[in-house]
Amino acid sequence: MKKILLTGDRPTGPLHIGHLFGSVLNRKKLQDEFECYYMIADVQALTDNWDNPEKIRESVIEVAADNIAVGVDPDKTTYFIQSQIPQIAELTVFFSNLVTVNELKRNPTTKAEIAQKKQLFGEEGESLTYGFLGYPVSQAADITFLRANIVPVGEDQLPVIELAREIAEKFNKIYKNNIFPIPEGKLSDAPRILGLDGSAKMSKSLNNAIYLKDTPEETIEKIKVAKTDSENYFSYDPEKRPAVSNLVLIYSLINDLDPHTAAKDLGNMPYSEFKKKLAEDLNKYLAPIRAKRHELIANKKHLTTILAKGLEKVLPRAEETMTMVREAMKIDY
Ligand code: TRP
Repeated sequence: MKKILLTGDRPTGPLHIGHLFGSVLNRKKLQDEFECYYMIADVQALTDNWDNPEKIRESVIEVAADNIAVGVDPDKTTYFIQSQIPQIAELTVFFSNLVTVNELKRNPTTKAEIAQKKQLFGEEGESLTYGFLGYPVSQAADITFLRANIVPVGEDQLPVIELAREIAEKFNKIYKNNIFPIPEGKLSDAPRILGLDGSAKMSKSLNNAIYLKDTPEETIEKIKVAKTDSENYFSYDPEKRPAVSNLVLIYSLINDLDPHTAAKDLGNMPYSEFKKKLAEDLNKYLAPIRAKRHELIANKKHLTTILAKGLEKVLPRAEETMTMVREAMKIDY
């Protein structure tokens, strides 16, 4: 039997090329080897967007369309929405006994996020919510309700997976059962794309991202103003020349080149000329994805059907897990 693989995104906006090269293409590659599930983590997205439910609601459709357009095929990967599985919420409550508040406060993933979200959680985290602090517990439930084996994630999420492993182990031990396999985090060798301004992350709030849904014209404009440096030659040196190396990386990914070789070949081409070429190549690369995406968004019924089918497949498994869980916890009245 194939192992069960679960991945997910928080639906907080449409996906950009950082997601594409960082996770979505990897998902596509893995879908023959594993039994794959893709969760749209709307409940988790609400933990730092509780006051903006419209955005999350719209983004559910956006991220589904983005993934399908790239080739994460709904015939191979089961798509579902987190909030439609009440068993996850139930399991989260049970798991909350198996983790200490101190463990959650020390978690490097959430710690870093809380430090970045000062507007929401305060300069010193004094307004931190129970929900955000606890999202790793809910993510442990996301993974274990399916009894998933493999969870591909970015490096920044590894401590969250580690906690899920600990919770699963603890549950099995305390309630003397073997319900949960211990999930494995799977790092991809996928490259990390920086923002077009050279900052560490492509993100909507920094306005430094190229979205799969952008038009070719928007793409050209964004690349035109992307940060470079004052050198007059190309090299691939992410440490010393992050902004230029990032553009070279994008160029080499879409043209299937090694970035060092690509940089050498680009030599001392003027940046403006390179940017024109990069935008043209990227638009060519994204054209089929954009066309498919357009089609999907124009026919939301099709998307809704995919999500309904996914739910139909996932719910019985969720209830099967919970029947075992309630029995093990002696609350199977
Ligand atoms: N926390 C993940 C992220 O921010 C999203 C996510 C939620 C997830 N539940 C998951 C990923 C379960 C893998 C498995 O990217």
